[in-house]
Amino acid sequence: MEVQIRPLHPSIGAECTGVDLRRPLSPDAVAAIERGMDQRAVLVFPKQDITDEQQIAFSKDFGRLETTFGGNVRRAGEHRLGKEFADVSNLDQHGRLLAQNDRNRMFNLGNQLWHSDSSFRSPPSKYSLLSGRVIPEKGPDTEFADMRAAYDALDAETKARVENLVCHHSLMYSRGQLGFTEFSDEEKAKFKPVRQRLVRAHPVTGRKSLFLASHIGVIEGWPVPEARAFIRDLIEHATRREFVYAHKWRPFDLVMWDNRQTMHRVRRFDDTRYVRDVRRTTVAGDAPTIEQVADKVA
Ligand code: OGA
Ligand code: MN
Repeated sequence: MEVQIRPLHPSIGAECTGVDLRRPLSPDAVAAIERGMDQRAVLVFPKQDITDEQQIAFSKDFGRLETTFGGNVRRAGEHRLGKEFADVSNLDQHGRLLAQNDRNRMFNLGNQLWHSDSSFRSPPSKYSLLSGRVIPEKGPDTEFADMRAAYDALDAETKARVENLVCHHSLMYSRGQLGFTEFSDEEKAKFKPVRQRLVRAHPVTGRKSLFLASHIGVIEGWPVPEARAFIRDLIEHATRREFVYAHKWRPFDLVMWDNRQTMHRVRRFDDTRYVRDVRRTTVAGDAPTIEQVADKVA
C-alpha cells in the first residue's frame, strides 16, 4: 500500500492512510511520513489499534525517544506506563480515574494551555505521537496551531523585534498561570528553566516559526511583566482560528505532531467522570535552539 496524505486544513494537518502501524514500515514509507510532517506538521493516522510496543517501535522510526519522567509530578510507583510514555490520561497507576484534587490531575490540567511538548528541555523535542486507546464520547478536541503561519503573519516591525529574543521555559511557569505554585526542592531542580530562541528555523524546510509555549516566563533582558504581556499577545495572535486545526478524536486515532512548528492544547472535559486513555511517546530533538542560526535555509 502507498502512503497517502490528505490535507485537513489549508496549512496544517493531514490524514495519513495506507500504513499499518502494527508492522515495521519500509524506509520509503518512513520517508514519506517524514516529508508529510515537514509540510503539514500534524498527521492523523486513523484506525491504528496498537500496543505500547508497536507505538514505541513506530516512534523510533523518527529518532531517539525521550525516556525520562521529567514532564510531570508523578512520583516513583505512581506510573501506569513505561518510561517511554508520557501518561496524559486521567488515570492513576491502577487504571482508576484521578480524583478532582489529585495533585497529578491538577498538574495535567496545564495541557489545556497552549504549549509545545518539552520546550522546557534542551534540546526540545522533535515529534509527539499520541495514541487514543479509550476515547470518551464527549471527549475533548485537541487543537494544533501552525507556528509557521503565525510567524509569517507578523508585521515587519514585530518580526524584527522577535528575531533574536531568547526565552526561559519551565513547567513551573505554565502551572503557575493556573495557580499551581507549590513545588518541592527536587521538583524545582527538575523544572529549572531552560533557554530557547523565540524564532527558530525548521532544519529541513528552513521555514521560520515562533517557538511559543505557556512554559515561557522570562524574555532575557526584559522586565518580567512586559515579557509576559508580550508573550500573551503573541500566543493570542498565533492561535487565531485560521491557524488552528482542531482534532476530533475517534478511538485508535494516532496523532503525530512536530513540536518545532506547532503548539497544541487539549480542551476542557468532564475528566473526573469519563475515562480518557491517551498515551504519548516523544521523539527527542537533536539540536538546541540557542545555537541555531534563525535564518538558516536548507
Ligand atoms: C500531550 C498533550 C493533549 C491531549 O500529549 O502532549 O498535550 O489531547 N495532550 O491529551
Ligand atoms: Mn502536550
